[in-house]
Amino acid sequence: MSAKIAIIGGTGLKSFPGLKMLKKEVVRTPYGTPSGPISYGEYADCEVIFIPRHGSAHTIPPHMINYCANLWALREKGIECIVAVAAVGSINAELYPTRIVIPKQIIDYTYARPHTFFEQDLQKVKHIDFSQPYDETLRQRLLAAAARVDLDCYDGGCYAATQGPRLETAAEIDRLERDGCDIVGMTGMPEAALARELDMAYAHCAMSVNWAAGRSQEEITLELIMQATKTATKKVQTLIASLLQAS
Ligand code: HPA
Repeated sequence: MSAKIAIIGGTGLKSFPGLKMLKKEVVRTPYGTPSGPISYGEYADCEVIFIPRHGSAHTIPPHMINYCANLWALREKGIECIVAVAAVGSINAELYPTRIVIPKQIIDYTYARPHTFFEQDLQKVKHIDFSQPYDETLRQRLLAAAARVDLDCYDGGCYAATQGPRLETAAEIDRLERDGCDIVGMTGMPEAALARELDMAYAHCAMSVNWAAGRSQEEITLELIMQATKTATKKVQTLIASLLQAS
């Protein structure tokens, strides 16, 4: 059996065709309980661990996710490589809803979320280098996996992490655009930084599910988001299957 990869599933992604689920495990960590049980699976001779970011029944909103417990649990299970799937809104006009984006940068606008493991043993504080927040090797593996299955996938862009759970105002999106952001979501931070603190390679597979506030005449409805999520999730499943086949 080769590479052990973890997938943090967001809205829409619960599994993918062909993945053989082997067992589920409820894990406890010094930071509390992760969002849900960890599922162990196998795909193309590759060991895959899956954790549902919003809980098994999708009941945990972005600002209440126990990011520390999720990441700690994955590290404890020997994970060195994480693909984080999450829904986003598009600010950049090129990023039509259902398009997959592998971003390169992050701006963090979240607040009041436990965001570091370095709060207890202050003898060991580590100032991680976060200049490049995503693991470039894993980003390139995702892009290559997309190319192999002819999936239109955007390489780059800046992810704005907002606090939620409400969507943004049009003026807030204007500001994010002025800041240089291309997509906006609520779960990318502190997840990415916590992965780096624990020395795990982490890359984001973002699926656009709506135009961000003020970027379309159409109202942002749950119905439209769910429709786009369904289509984009199929693309993500194809992408991850391609990644695992080559791992
Ligand atoms: N804003 C923030 N988070 C999101 C959005 C959005 O428009 N769409 C999906 N997640």
